[in-house]
Amino acid sequence: MDQNDRAPGQRDKVALITGAGGMKGVGRAIALKFARLGVDLALSDVQLNAEDKHPNQVRTGWRGIESVAEEVRALGVRCLTVTCDLGDSQQIHALVKQTVAHFGHIDILVNNARAIMGADKVPITELPEEVWQHFLTINLTAPFILTKLVAQEMIRQGNGGRIINIGSDTSKRATRMGAAYGSTKQGLVALTQAAAQDLAPFGITVNCPCPGSINTDRLSYWERAQAEAKDMSYEEFRATIVKEGVDATPLGRIAEPEDVANLVAFLVSDDASFITGQAYNVNGGLLFH
Ligand SMILES: NC(=O)c1ccc[n+]([C@@H]2O[C@H](COP(=O)([O-])OP(=O)(O)OC[C@H]3O[C@@H](n4cnc5c(N)ncnc54)[C@H](O)[C@@H]3O)[C@@H](O)[C@H]2O)c1
Repeated sequence: MDQNDRAPGQRDKVALITGAGGMKGVGRAIALKFARLGVDLALSDVQLNAEDKHPNQVRTGWRGIESVAEEVRALGVRCLTVTCDLGDSQQIHALVKQTVAHFGHIDILVNNARAIMGADKVPITELPEEVWQHFLTINLTAPFILTKLVAQEMIRQGNGGRIINIGSDTSKRATRMGAAYGSTKQGLVALTQAAAQDLAPFGITVNCPCPGSINTDRLSYWERAQAEAKDMSYEEFRATIVKEGVDATPLGRIAEPEDVANLVAFLVSDDASFITGQAYNVNGGLLFH
């Protein structure tokens, strides 16, 4: 894609996306959507052990952010890949530094990564403190640090900016066995609202899409354990979860990663310049507040 072919408003923009390496993940869908708009990309993810990868990714030899980088470069944008464990503040600082050193600026930040689900999915009386702490660290503290560092950079640049925090329907309504995840996703709404007010004078907007169930290839230790206990394959058990979501959703399906990417693309566009501090549902009519 020639620089001149890029969509108005997105030309020469650079976006940093965390958790971008999933083969069917929301981060990859956002990266592809941005690439089609001509946005250059810094894609980040943690180095996963084989046992933490989704079976499909192991089967197909998926290489995480390196595979996504090949896809977006084929669409004509520049792409930097940075391995970063969001549990380590020094690695987060290095991620921002590397992105700025490579591209010279950051215009869009998407806090998309989250702690791998599973160990948290227990009643609160059984929730280990270290699991609670891990979820806080990856899902809330890391977005805070990234918001702080990237916003400092955006203010220095003087061209405004866009920050997107990927929430969840649990940002609006926590679930049973979901104290850690729900607390972090509701905390993300508070972070969004506070940052939106602090950063408004600099033309930086901060918003929080809140998807219901998404048809991703997320790995959940809980789902894997349930599948084993029921003598089902991981895919078979996952299909039962998807069916429950479909049955409960007025629009008759769960979200595809692209449904979330479409809202994100709107929120980072010039058309959304007067929208900030909002937490928008992408849930097929499942929740209304
Ligand atoms: N999948 C769903 O049903 C669903 C529903 C509502 C909201 N969401 C939200 O959408 C976003 C993306 O969801 P998904 O299902 O594509 O994601 P996912 O569960 O596949 O995880 C996203 C990424 O986070 C990365 N990650 C995990 N630990 C990390 C660490 N320590 N450091 C850096 N990265 C780390 C993973 O490697 C992965 O690529 C998340 O914020 C999630 O909470 C997902």
